[in-house]
Amino acid sequence: MRERDPFGRRAIYLRHLSLTHFRNYVHQELELPPGLLVFVGNNAQGKSNLLEAAYLLATTRSLRATTDREMVGWTAAQEPLPYSRVAGTATAAEGDVRVELVIQTARSESIPGEEEPWPEEPEPADLSVRTLRKVFKVNEVPRRAAEVVGRVKAVLFGPEEVETIGGPPSLRRRSLDLAASQVDPAYVRALQRYTQVAAQRNALLRAIREGHASSSQLAVWDGQLVETGSLILLQRLALVRALQESVQQAYVALSGEGKPLTLSYESTVPVLRREEERASVQEAFHRALERSRPREVLLGTTLVGPHRDDLRFFEGKVDMGVYASRGQQRSLALAVKLAEATYMRDLSGQAPLLLLDDVLSELDASHRAGLLRACAAMEQVWLTTADEKQLPPLAAERPMALYRVERGTVKVGTSLL
Ligand SMILES: Nc1ncnc2c1ncn2[C@@H]1O[C@H](COP(=O)(O)OP(=O)(O)O)[C@@H](O)[C@H]1O
Ligand SMILES: [Mg+2]
Repeated sequence: MRERDPFGRRAIYLRHLSLTHFRNYVHQELELPPGLLVFVGNNAQGKSNLLEAAYLLATTRSLRATTDREMVGWTAAQEPLPYSRVAGTATAAEGDVRVELVIQTARSESIPGEEEPWPEEPEPADLSVRTLRKVFKVNEVPRRAAEVVGRVKAVLFGPEEVETIGGPPSLRRRSLDLAASQVDPAYVRALQRYTQVAAQRNALLRAIREGHASSSQLAVWDGQLVETGSLILLQRLALVRALQESVQQAYVALSGEGKPLTLSYESTVPVLRREEERASVQEAFHRALERSRPREVLLGTTLVGPHRDDLRFFEGKVDMGVYASRGQQRSLALAVKLAEATYMRDLSGQAPLLLLDDVLSELDASHRAGLLRACAAMEQVWLTTADEKQLPPLAAERPMALYRVERGTVKVGTSLL
């Protein structure tokens, strides 16, 4: 792939990845070119772990780990203080960016002189007595997580993402949040602040219910909830509007179905289209809070705001989250991810890494080709597969690097095809 696009901007991609005690990788260094990267390997060899690592660098979060502990490689138990490190270097418009994440353990109950057992066969490190902390660096300078998000950008689609369409609303909100966060640091800050404010406001609502506090104390929290929540709401509305057309295009490419799709952002704050400017959204938010106050006090929780919103998908009048087949939901979820990637690229001028985990097996041959066409505009596309034969012939038109993943090691491979 070209190093510069027709406008002279530098191509943006991850050119180096380094893993230490990350999941089943003991130590791995990888040089990566732009273009299409194909990771071939049997089940449970470390393909998804690799994509998870790249996604962590972009978002500081894993989509599948429920705890950070889980990602620390079992081999880390050999270290005096077990740790896990993921580091990556991306080429970017302003030069190279090196992002590093270390999950550190601190022994909370260290017994002097005690020897750590050195397991013959690595087992899950017993980190239960240890506290963990995540340390981030960008270009060697320590940073808070919120300052790291989006320095490298990525969109991940894995087998679990089919749930995005029909699963709980929180998954759809998370998808929007992760896309918006990577292109706007203000969004990350608003989201963090909003979550804190909502938690404090909930505590106050419960105190009011128990008679330990008065409703007048809500005003200051309401103000902050509305301030940060409106920013989130407006950004999400803009994002959903931008996704509308590209989701449709990608869905046609992936499924062959051409019926009109509608994305509908359903907010607990009644925002009319013409009201979508800051002052009126804030006003509507305040009114909605006032209306639901008695119920909020009764339940001790905040019922209005972006943390209660949803995104729904309609094909004509049919709610895809309810009625679409699993295959359709899967194609739609993938179409949403591709559209998010396009949005992020258009807004920031940097194409995100497109991390596609095990997508080929569930698409038929013509739609596999459609997928590759749909992601042709992305600088670096990571694709995992257990079966190389599923690669569509179109792959030949694009520079492709092939890797073999086996028991936590990645080797540069040559295609058998
Ligand atoms: N913290 C960990 N330490 C060591 N190995 C791990 C850890 N977490 C998961 N694994 C191992 O990683 C393997 C799964 O890797 P994965 O990337 O999901 O495979 P796949 O190639 O099928 O995508 C399993 O063998 C699992 O035991
Ligand atoms: Mg996998």
